[in-house]
Amino acid sequence: MSGEFARLKGFADMFADQSALFTRMESAARTIFPRYGFGELRTPILERTGLFQRSIGTETDVVQKEMFTFEDRGGRSLTMRPEATAGVMRACLEAGLAKPGLVTRVFTMGPMFRYERPQKGRMRQFHQINCECLGSDSPYADAELICMLLSFLDSLHIPGLVLKMNSLGCVACRPAYMDSLKAYLMELDRDALCEDCRRRMDTNPLRVLDCKNGACHALAQAAPHLLDHVCDNCGEHFQLVTDLLKNRNVDIVIDHLLVRGLDYYMRTTFEVASNQIGSQTAVAGGGRYDGLVAQIGGQAVPGVGFACGMERLALLMDEDGLAKPDFHIIALSTQLRPKAFALAEELRDGGFSGEMSYSDGGMKSLMRQAAHSGARFCLILGDSEDSRGEITIRNMADGTQNCVPASSLPGMMGGGDRQ
Ligand code: HAM
Repeated sequence: MSGEFARLKGFADMFADQSALFTRMESAARTIFPRYGFGELRTPILERTGLFQRSIGTETDVVQKEMFTFEDRGGRSLTMRPEATAGVMRACLEAGLAKPGLVTRVFTMGPMFRYERPQKGRMRQFHQINCECLGSDSPYADAELICMLLSFLDSLHIPGLVLKMNSLGCVACRPAYMDSLKAYLMELDRDALCEDCRRRMDTNPLRVLDCKNGACHALAQAAPHLLDHVCDNCGEHFQLVTDLLKNRNVDIVIDHLLVRGLDYYMRTTFEVASNQIGSQTAVAGGGRYDGLVAQIGGQAVPGVGFACGMERLALLMDEDGLAKPDFHIIALSTQLRPKAFALAEELRDGGFSGEMSYSDGGMKSLMRQAAHSGARFCLILGDSEDSRGEITIRNMADGTQNCVPASSLPGMMGGGDRQ
């Protein structure tokens, strides 16, 4: 469909196959995260624009170029959430759950919106599963959160993922690092950097380190390493987090260029990447944000969290495990349709899934519909079967078929209640 009513670029419709993958991720999250004490939180899609500007940072690409921002009828500037963390912090603050001495663990799932150039694995409306642990600066919180993320990804059977980690230091040690990074960047030929990085050199030099432009990337690789400049406290924090993970046999790749695209991070940062989804490699990303709650008006409450990109995970998930309907039932005459209708209901009551054909077409077209349904068995009710109190069951995988009493269908289709 083109023109007036066409789907917006970067926005996707999700039919059953894709939805089933999303449901699998959501139920894995709802199974695994509560084991770590995380409870589900649902926050609004719309927030005040200032919340994102203040938390994500005015110099980030997300705030500068990617937000869906508009004025509502009351003249307020509103933004469709580009990520969940800011809204979660706001919600916890308003609910009195972001307080010193109190540990709050929440997870959220849902759509996020960023006005990016769409490509495989990069959408303007995308979905995240997001976890936040508020109220502790313990390295155990970081390690536990990362174990939880890996356990979640493991349950989805996604092969070939790599955990990359870095430390961004803290307010005590990062300024000195920024000075040496700036000094390094100042010595470069400005024209060798992309236009964005020429600006970032002055406004947000850290972001030069993770620029995707080839020339910038090559220059960033020779930049001073953050981990060589962190203070003793940050160094010990990072050491303990990585030791705890290594003791759980987690492989870690230290990535000195991993600085993340949002300004609220400090200390631990991490990403889980795959090399199987084109250039959009990060399937999850997160880190520690100890200054964020204070930045949006709360007390000094530390936190650590991550978000997974559901579209990117879906690209890596195996579709084979998706449930197919058990049956597709066809009545060969209008008079027999009420019987087919009743039989379908009985089978569903017994826990089977299936659909009925409403058509009167010829056998060829009816069988095409049955194949299209993806059902494991096609049940055909014609006059001759009906006169004997039987029904034809066709195995769609191998084409074999038999005439059997309706009562034997549950056994033939694979047992009793499947719910
Ligand atoms: P983020 O790295 O911006 O972090 O996004 C997390 C994940 O969301 C990415 O790794 C990616 O899988 C997915 N993602 C991001 N943008 C898109 C897009 N346009 N299309 C498809 N997928 C996308 C955050 O959002 C932080 N709030 C994570 C966090 C939570 N940090 C602490 N707590």
